[in-house]
Amino acid sequence: MTTIGEILQNFGYGPVDEENRKALAEILLPNLDLIAEEFYEFLSRDPVMSTYFLTPAAVEHRKATIKRWLEDLLTSKYDVAFLRRMTKVGQVHVRVKLDGHLVNAAMHFIRSFCFRLIESEADGERLSSLNATFDKLLDINLDILTISYREAEMKKIFVSQRLESALLNLSERLLHGLNLVLTLGLLAMALGVVALFGQDLVQAFTGEIEHGVIKALGSLLILWMMIELLQAEIEHLKGGRFHLKIFIELAIVALIRKLFVAALDKSDPVGFGLISGGLLTLGLLLYLATRELTERTKR
Ligand code: HEM
Repeated sequence: MTTIGEILQNFGYGPVDEENRKALAEILLPNLDLIAEEFYEFLSRDPVMSTYFLTPAAVEHRKATIKRWLEDLLTSKYDVAFLRRMTKVGQVHVRVKLDGHLVNAAMHFIRSFCFRLIESEADGERLSSLNATFDKLLDINLDILTISYREAEMKKIFVSQRLESALLNLSERLLHGLNLVLTLGLLAMALGVVALFGQDLVQAFTGEIEHGVIKALGSLLILWMMIELLQAEIEHLKGGRFHLKIFIELAIVALIRKLFVAALDKSDPVGFGLISGGLLTLGLLLYLATRELTERTKR
């Protein structure tokens, strides 16, 4: 956090300003009531700002706090305690949800109104020097009041960033977990196909050799596709693209196996027709998926 020493140095606040501050106090403090009255008038003219002071007690409190603030600005030592007091004023405005832009506008009003009072008491070089110091005092003050607004904004950004990254982390982990489940499922299925292949071989050697060999051939085809699919999934887990195409190919191969068997079993022409129709649809899907992939690689 910036110290009061750094703030004063950044604004070039020096001994001349400290002297001018005493002169400014002599000019402005006798006018505190007038300034507080005009400031309240300024606030009450605005439809938004006026809503903050609806009761006579709130109006009186407003006048008292602005007088206390100006006195503080012109007479207090600029030290850590002053910085703390002004930071608290900023926090009060943030807490009442006052738009920071309105504080800037109000500061502009105070600046112009007080300039006129200073002008009525000084002229020439003294007036320029007093005005320059008063400018600095208000700018320093506005800077401190704005710190609270900046901090409130930063807090909002920080909270939303933390929430976003927590959500991202959670979804990434969930996605990774689901991919692992998919890989395990594929592995189990591959083992199932190996078992199917074994069963087909047994059938080939013990009973109908034609049926058994054709089925075993189909199972081998499916196993081959399963290996492709597993390889694609492992690549995907390592960060590569996922290929939907391989899933369609696997479904085609499974149907081809069924078609082989149905071709041998001539008693079910409807089943044969349905399998052929399914194959045709999957072929079309594969064609579309491949075409979309080729177009994307060209781009
Ligand atoms: C030059 C700009 C302003 C200065 C120097 C200023 C100063 C102050 C001070 C010293 C307080 C008392 C803080 C405390 O309790 O410790 C305060 C409170 C407050 N200010 Fe301001 N203020 C300014 C602009 C505004 C504006 C534009 C509004 C809008 C209507 C506003 C509304 C309030 C409200 C609602 C409170 C809390 C209630 C109260 O103490 O009256 N202020 N302000």
